[in-house]
Amino acid sequence: MSQTAPVDLIVNKKAVPKEFNRIAARYDFATSMSQGYSIDLEASVQKLNLKGDEHVLDLCCGTGKSTLPLLKALPHGRITGLDNSEGMLEEARKKFKTEIECGKMDFVLRDAMNPEMEPESFDVVFAAYGLRNMPDYQTFLNNAFSLLKPGGKICIHDYSLADNAWSRPYWAVLGYGFIVPFCTAVTGSSKIFTYLVKSVLDFPGPKEIETLLSRAGFTQIQSHPHAGWRAPILHAIVAQKDN
Ligand SMILES: C[S@@+](CC[C@H](N)C(=O)[O-])C[C@H]1O[C@@H](n2cnc3c(N)ncnc32)[C@H](O)[C@@H]1O
Repeated sequence: MSQTAPVDLIVNKKAVPKEFNRIAARYDFATSMSQGYSIDLEASVQKLNLKGDEHVLDLCCGTGKSTLPLLKALPHGRITGLDNSEGMLEEARKKFKTEIECGKMDFVLRDAMNPEMEPESFDVVFAAYGLRNMPDYQTFLNNAFSLLKPGGKICIHDYSLADNAWSRPYWAVLGYGFIVPFCTAVTGSSKIFTYLVKSVLDFPGPKEIETLLSRAGFTQIQSHPHAGWRAPILHAIVAQKDN
C-alpha cells in the first residue's frame, strides 16, 4: 500500500479519509489516551442545548466517538453519522449495532464536500475535528447550512488556536513533543498525526471561523474555549440558521 507524506495530505486533503482507514482499529485507543477527549465532546454537545428529539447529523463522525455524547443527549432523537473513511465507519457500525437495528442511527459513506443529501434534512449539525480536514472550509460550511432546517444549529468542535501570540508555540511543542511520538507508538503510523499537528497550525482561529460561518449565512455565532490546558487550542463554535 502506498504511503502518503503528511505534507501531501495538507495539499491534498481528499486523501485524508484513506489515511484514517489505516488507523481506524486503533483510533479509539489513541484518543482515549488524550486527556479530556470525551469530556470535551460532551461539553460541546451541551452548548447546543438539545431538546432531545432532534435529528442530528454527525459530520465526519469517524468511529463514533463524537456520536456517543449525541446519543446520550437524544433520548427521543435520531443521528446520522457521515464519514468518507470506510474503516472508521466500520468501527462505528460495530459500536452502535443495536441503535442501527432499531432505526435510531445510520452511518453513511459520503464526502462532506459533496454530501448529496436532501437540503433542510437536519435539526442540528455537529462537526468534531471535521472542518480542519476539508480542502475548502467555506464549501463545507455552505453545505452544512443547506442541510439544516430553518432554526437549526451547528457546532464546530476543533483544534482552532486562540488568537494570541503563544497558542501556536504551545501547540507545536504539545504536537511534535507528545502527540506525534505517542500516537505513532500506539497506532504504528506517524503520517496522520504529523498531518494533525501541521493542519492545526494552518487552520483558522475562532474569529476567522466565525467569519466563515457568517458568510455561509449563520447568525448568533459564539466561540467557547474548552477547559484547562486545552483552552488555547480547542474551541466549540456554535451558530444558528435563522427561521
Ligand atoms: C479526527 S477524525 C474525527 C472523528 C470523530 N468526529 C471524533 O470526534 O473522534 C476526522 C474524520 O474526518 C473524516 N473525513 C476527512 N475528510 C472527510 C471528507 N471529505 N468527508 C467526510 N469525512 C471526512 C475522516 O475520515 C475522519 O474519520
